[in-house]
Amino acid sequence: MAKVTIHTLRKMKAAGERIGMLTAYDATFARLLDGAGVDVILVGDSLGNVIQGEKSTLPVTMDQMVYHTRIVSRATQRAHVVGDMPFMSYQASVDEAVKNAGRLVAEGGAEAVKLEGGAEFAEVIRKIVRAGIPVMGHIGLTPQTVHKMGGYVVQGRDEEKARKLLEDAQALEDAGCSSLVLEGIPQELAAQITAQLSIPTIGIGAGPHCDGQVLVIYDLLGMDPSFSPKFVKRYANLHEVIGSAVRDYLGEVKGGLFPDEAHSFRMARAAATAQVPASANIRVVEGEKSEEKLGAIYGGVAGEGQKR
Ligand code: KIV
Repeated sequence: MAKVTIHTLRKMKAAGERIGMLTAYDATFARLLDGAGVDVILVGDSLGNVIQGEKSTLPVTMDQMVYHTRIVSRATQRAHVVGDMPFMSYQASVDEAVKNAGRLVAEGGAEAVKLEGGAEFAEVIRKIVRAGIPVMGHIGLTPQTVHKMGGYVVQGRDEEKARKLLEDAQALEDAGCSSLVLEGIPQELAAQITAQLSIPTIGIGAGPHCDGQVLVIYDLLGMDPSFSPKFVKRYANLHEVIGSAVRDYLGEVKGGLFPDEAHSFRMARAAATAQVPASANIRVVEGEKSEEKLGAIYGGVAGEGQKR
């Protein structure tokens, strides 16, 4: 299984093969997405919203991004792992930006970093790329500038703003970006940018003409019924599935149905006979499976790296 790299992504664009990207923030989801064939896993600062319950991505810190990137990269074998640079980790100075990008790679295990912004970040991007770190750009609706945009609103709808975004896209490619996220822009503009650039574009709320698409995994899975912007398509209704499973569990716990015999352990017969008074009316049997006798309840010996 060949690892997806920035070169793979460029070849996919050249071959007209669409790129599938999703966010992940933990090892379990990373393993699932990787196994399902996702090309790029983004450890997005959207974790501020979906993991931390914040109203925006602004409170997310560098340490938190390093932590989540580490646990995702550790669980990923094939997909290209991109770590998001959080608010104020690259805006204050070029030196700080390079150091923080380096942390996502060295400590987090990311294979590229993503940062939001246009031509004004060309110098920062040049220096990060010069340090040997691939950069994914991100223009259009950039959540870290929510206050400047005056809300989460579609960008580049008029001719002048569209021209500025086209120039930004070219400036980012010229600065060395190896791919570019286009968020919340009209599909005609995304098509124009995609045709103009030789690096792959990844759209979110940018129509069907990008080289690839990205969604926040929790949105795709329908985890939050109250969040349904136009650009999100739900491929599952996990809020219903999870709610129903939890209600079933609670019903069985409160009704004394769980845990049953199949989900409980037994003492060795001799010890149990000594322990359990006859009046307790408990049938004394020995654990049948040899690993049960050893107490290896997770299917292996702790420390051997077994899965649960
Ligand atoms: O943080 C994030 O998840 C993102 C994607 C939505 C592009 O930036």
